[in-house]
Amino acid sequence: MKWNTLAAAFGLVAPSSALLRFGCSQLTVQRLDPLVNPGSNPSPHLHQIIGGNSFNVSMDHANHDLVAKSTCTSCQFTEDFSNYWTAVIYFKARNGTYKRVPQRPQQGMENTNGGMVVYYMSDALFDTAQKSKVTAFKPGFRMLIGDVNYRTREQARDFRQLTYICMQNEGTREPETLDFPTKPCPAGIMANHRFPTCWDGVNLDSPNHRDHVAYPETGTFESGGKCPATHPVRIPQILLETVWDTKKFNDKALWPSDGSQPFVWSSGDKTGFSTHADYLFGWKDDSLQKAMDAHTYVSTPSLKTQTIAQQNKCTVPDMVREDIDSWLTALPGGVMVN
Ligand SMILES: *[C@@H]1O[C@H](CO)[C@@H](O)[C@H](O)[C@H]1NC(C)=O
Ligand SMILES: *[C@@H]1O[C@H](CO)[C@@H](O)[C@H](O)[C@H]1NC(C)=O
Repeated sequence: MKWNTLAAAFGLVAPSSALLRFGCSQLTVQRLDPLVNPGSNPSPHLHQIIGGNSFNVSMDHANHDLVAKSTCTSCQFTEDFSNYWTAVIYFKARNGTYKRVPQRPQQGMENTNGGMVVYYMSDALFDTAQKSKVTAFKPGFRMLIGDVNYRTREQARDFRQLTYICMQNEGTREPETLDFPTKPCPAGIMANHRFPTCWDGVNLDSPNHRDHVAYPETGTFESGGKCPATHPVRIPQILLETVWDTKKFNDKALWPSDGSQPFVWSSGDKTGFSTHADYLFGWKDDSLQKAMDAHTYVSTPSLKTQTIAQQNKCTVPDMVREDIDSWLTALPGGVMVN
């Protein structure tokens, strides 16, 4: 099945919970990063974060139980207190100032305040059987995908499946590119973050937050590729879809006169190759394992849900207190674009 058909299958019709597909409202947007820069308020660059409201400056995996410390989640599934985050896209105006690009909900999730759509899958997205066995993450598990310092296509190839889609309409799912779209995208820019699917089975984290997970040794997750002996445990594939609502910035007259595209990540990257995402596991008890073991598609009856209005109510206080929304003379944190 093609991506477009899939989009029609559950993007454009009333989505129930697919293979595990669910919307999450914005929990907060601030310059914090408890995975890479724990204890730093502020962290170097701005992030947009979804999930449980235990999100904080420090979330040490030994002492910070996301489930116990959260009282709500911005996600549709109420047993998911995980946190997921990415950098933030800014538009750079001709006069050199920066404006934060808003995020928009996908069709069928109208009225969601920004946020992302999250997937967990046992097999390729197009495989409606979802029969393969996956082992759910353990409490304290966390990981990072992507590299904030990358600026070239060759570097970006280290990570499969961190891509952009220039949305012509709500159903556009191809082509996917490794760098920012070069033309205005009428329905926005979708950023896709797919995490690795093999785990070493031992470490909840690693010094670079990446080495305890890996891609299949041969083939891909989609082709049923086997995990390497060093990382033998097959974990669910997490996919995050973020739709950056570029509508206000699509007038070519606002774009740079040299023909380049005007969007930059809050980490100072105008290529798009530094795209990255962070994950802190925080599902209650064995709710995620049970849901994955049910091998359902488009319906996950074992999981409890809440309304979008309830999701939108779950936020965390602004702990950094800086202006992120004016026409800024510099990116938050004074990050240089290079
Ligand atoms: C964040 O951590 C601080 C220090 O431990 C604590 O006082 C505060 O209540 C926490 N904030 C939230 C929203 O949990
Ligand atoms: C810079 O350009 C933006 C977009 O055109 C505009 O809204 C803003 O007011 C301008 N700022 C200054 C200081 O001229």
